[in-house]
Amino acid sequence: MKLRTETPSAENSHNFTIVSNSTTKVGTTLENLKSAISGETGASAKYTAFAQAAEAQGYNQVARLFKATAAAEQIHIGLEYALVAEVEPDFEKPTAQGAAGEASDLDLISGACGEIYETSDMYPAFIKRAQEEGNIKAVQVFTRAKLAESVHAERYLAAYNDLDCPDDDTFYLCPSCGYIHKGEDFEKCPICFCPKSSFTAF
Ligand SMILES: [Fe+2]
Ligand SMILES: [Fe+2]
Repeated sequence: MKLRTETPSAENSHNFTIVSNSTTKVGTTLENLKSAISGETGASAKYTAFAQAAEAQGYNQVARLFKATAAAEQIHIGLEYALVAEVEPDFEKPTAQGAAGEASDLDLISGACGEIYETSDMYPAFIKRAQEEGNIKAVQVFTRAKLAESVHAERYLAAYNDLDCPDDDTFYLCPSCGYIHKGEDFEKCPICFCPKSSFTAF
């Protein structure tokens, strides 16, 4: 993802179209926030399990990527939970179902498919509804997550293609939007412009 002159948003970007065969159940923005929390919780648990499986199979770099992405989804949960808690302070975060990994190549494809669903279907649908409701905070939170998810998909597919020729690059996680960079060649987050110094290394 290249660095733009202004922060990417639903208003100044052209990759926010919702797939025509959308399977997202859209409710009110409050309901959509809860639904996103639930989806992100499942994804985070899945990636944690995939990381364990990758480690056991000797794919250490893939394991680091799954750990970084599991942590990224926790960032999205935190952003979405904060908005729900403004309305429902007693809202309890859902717990994840049990998850297990299989062959790491298939886990990477499974992860990429989930990320592509979120970035091309779920989040654009939730963003549209939040725009209709005039909920600017929710538009911003969903937008950050949407943009990070497509990068997650990109990292997963790159790892899939490079499974037999890994390198020792570090993955860096942006603490405010969940963007993940591979390697050292960046100065700030292309989604939210956080400096590299604030990123977490995996
Ligand atoms: Fe993701
Ligand atoms: Fe960021």
